[in-house]
Amino acid sequence: MARRTSDSLSPDAPSSGEAGVGVLDPAGQGPRHVAIIMDGNGRWATMRGRPRLFGHHAGARRVREIVEACPDLGVKYLTIFAFSTENWRRTQVEVAGLMSLFRRYITGEARQLRDEGVRVRFIGDRVRLDDKLVALMDELELMTAGNDRVHLTIALNYGGRDEVARATKRLAQDVALGRLDPADVDEETLPKYLDTYVLPDPDLVIRTSGEARISNFLLWQSAYAEYEFVDTLWPDFSRAEFAKLLHGYGARDRRFGGVKL
Ligand code: IPE
Ligand code: IPE
Ligand code: MG
Repeated sequence: MARRTSDSLSPDAPSSGEAGVGVLDPAGQGPRHVAIIMDGNGRWATMRGRPRLFGHHAGARRVREIVEACPDLGVKYLTIFAFSTENWRRTQVEVAGLMSLFRRYITGEARQLRDEGVRVRFIGDRVRLDDKLVALMDELELMTAGNDRVHLTIALNYGGRDEVARATKRLAQDVALGRLDPADVDEETLPKYLDTYVLPDPDLVIRTSGEARISNFLLWQSAYAEYEFVDTLWPDFSRAEFAKLLHGYGARDRRFGGVKL
């Protein structure tokens, strides 16, 4: 996704097409867009008497298996929470280690992701990230821009409230510039300013590690998502467990506020 600037509604933003279609799941089978809160790396490492960063490295290695499983399982969009706007509260050692891990991950995985048809996008505020990391993110987005097999979105320095605040700022700028009439603002308008503007809404949100909270992830987009909270710590999350959760999703009755006749 191109870096958003104050010119807000970019020419490639969909007016009504792609965005939001994920909630419909017309085939009535598996989820088209799955979002994952990859939690429990720290506990996984602590249980082994190792530093937390050891768990983050193990967690990063898990991502490949889950991304590779997506095409077979019918998942077109996978969005993963890698670092939240609140994660800066951790020790300087952990934050620096994570930032270095993100750089290493991008450098190490880029070619494989491109060759496997994965289109990578990043969401979150890039302003606080270091220039080297942002350059790698831009490069990976560019080099996978022609892919369409799986759409992998990595949330990095992402917070749902921060995203809505940034979106509102750009929306307000458009009003101030006379490009948007406040009378036309409705619930279709704001999502066009969100970082996820080209993505459908998630159908299923999974969180590992036993915590049953969403920790500021995709607040607007998950209004009608189904949720699965599993006890498995992220570094132990397997393709088999992923497949089982997707299967369970198929049995759910999604009514979107209506009544099934
Ligand atoms: C999730 O694992 C990864 C990030 C938040 C970066 P944690 O680091 O939160 O692991 P726990 O929750 O402390 O076990
Ligand atoms: C959420 O996990 C963020 C990521 C997985 C990147 P946290 O571990 O940061 O969330 P809390 O602190 O338990 O709510
Ligand atoms: Mg955690």
